[in-house]
Amino acid sequence: MSDRTTARDLFRDVIALAPMATGGNLPYRRLCREFGAEMSCSEMILAHKLAKGSRRELPLLRRHEGESPFGIQIAAGKPAAMGEGARVAASHEPDYLDLNFGCPIDVMVRRGIGAAALKRPARLRAMIAAARAVTDLPLLVKIRAGWSEKKVNAVEMARIAEDEGADSISIHGRTREQRYRRDADWSIIAEVADAVDIPVLGNGDILLPGDRTRHLAETRVSGVVVARGALIKPWIFRELRSGEVWHPSTAERWGVMRRYFDMAAEHFGDDEKGLPRVERFFLWHLGFWHRYRPYVDADQAASDTSLIQQRNDAVPEDPEDRLLYSGREEDHELIWRRLLDKDHPGA
Ligand SMILES: Cc1cc2nc3c(=O)[nH]c(=O)nc-3n(C[C@H](O)[C@H](O)[C@H](O)COP(=O)(O)O)c2cc1C
Repeated sequence: MSDRTTARDLFRDVIALAPMATGGNLPYRRLCREFGAEMSCSEMILAHKLAKGSRRELPLLRRHEGESPFGIQIAAGKPAAMGEGARVAASHEPDYLDLNFGCPIDVMVRRGIGAAALKRPARLRAMIAAARAVTDLPLLVKIRAGWSEKKVNAVEMARIAEDEGADSISIHGRTREQRYRRDADWSIIAEVADAVDIPVLGNGDILLPGDRTRHLAETRVSGVVVARGALIKPWIFRELRSGEVWHPSTAERWGVMRRYFDMAAEHFGDDEKGLPRVERFFLWHLGFWHRYRPYVDADQAASDTSLIQQRNDAVPEDPEDRLLYSGREEDHELIWRRLLDKDHPGA
């Protein structure tokens, strides 16, 4: 095998934004990069569609010029599709390819796509080999802890990936069957990091600067990957890099929303065709942004995930704060209108 040192180095010591369908749209990735995300990736793209030359996937392959390194994530159920999809994806010149063996969605796994491969080690091996055969690009393999709690096999999967020439493993510490019901299991992530020589990125429940420092100290992971934490507070990257929690004021939170709006309008257009798309994405993101709660010491006793999964329902007194905490659709529409009218704190 050729010397893959440089390819592997790409994945050392990184704070990465996770691949995310919808949430990982180009302007949102740009926002996260501005806050300090060091690596970003496309949304999941089905390899067989790329292989067929479908043009609908093309927008998903695009990166912003500020996104470097940038990966393209593909998923397939069969080695031939994975190989052909990898060839097309590589021709778009990403900095690396990400192979998705984590997607839990029923319609996907029924077709052998995503996490389904965790039940078929030989198939997983053949799919990684097929991608490796068509490109020298750095190759990241994304897995989960396993299919179910009775079938936790991430170490075996990671060894297969390493054998087949993967340059890095990203592991989400939950099984397919758990979805988000349990906290991510960082002990299985630690085992994977011990088991292979290539860099391992740990993924699951990174919400506070202390989460990253603790996992880096306690495991041999070479970096962390952040998904929901970045959807709730894109400034998490600033926190993770500085090691300090940031409490944005209400005006600063509006500023973050406006920055996203501006970049989304630049990307999708602010005309009759573009603006409704910007609105759809903006409202989608509000579904996560409103869950943000400032972290205070009193919360320290609570587990980290409780910040995401349970709502701190103490209603703030200030009506402007209250609006940003609201999960009601009418309030989200009001926020959107006020943004358009520049009628908000800090405008
Ligand atoms: C809205 C959303 C979309 C996602 N889409 C993808 C995807 O396209 N590809 C992928 O590998 N993982 C996807 N994931 C999973 C995340 O990358 C990540 O593995 C998971 O959310 C655990 O990280 P977290 O605890 O930081 O959220 C998605 C997660 C969310 C919340």
